[in-house]
Amino acid sequence: MEFKPSKTKILMVCLGNICRSPLAHGILESKLSSQDFFIDSAGTSSYHIGDKPDYRSIAVAKANGIDISTQKSRQFVSADFDRFDIIYAMDKSNYRNIINLAQSESDRLKVKLILDENASIYDKAVPDPYYGDESGFEHVFKILDETCDIIAKTLLK
Ligand code: 4NP
Repeated sequence: MEFKPSKTKILMVCLGNICRSPLAHGILESKLSSQDFFIDSAGTSSYHIGDKPDYRSIAVAKANGIDISTQKSRQFVSADFDRFDIIYAMDKSNYRNIINLAQSESDRLKVKLILDENASIYDKAVPDPYYGDESGFEHVFKILDETCDIIAKTLLK
């Protein structure tokens, strides 16, 4: 019988889990096979638990052929350290909030800033587009799409 390794599990995390991480979730999912990878997202806050992604994130994803409308916001929990292999934070504040819930060095080693994967982007924070207009969401889509391309290519090597 052929050995079938278990799926690689990746979690995208922002503050509200309605703008940035649902996009990162949908974009990376679109670049990888669901047979080999499980992608999810969560927020460090409880502000939007149970909500759909922001309509502007849904729209920019749809314009790029990705449906994120069925995602539902949930809060990051310590058990996520056991469930996931890699945890990507959208900015340094999210990163610190996640690290504060870590219970071991192996938990801490799973947490990365997503833009650290993209050497061509100098500012390592995915900007929070919540209080801005559509152009902010388009910008977030573009940098996450470019970065998820790099992540997917690295994972598939
Ligand atoms: P996100 O954006 O962290 O990218 O989902 C935000 C969404 C909601 C709020 C802040 C950021 N809020 O304060 O409700």
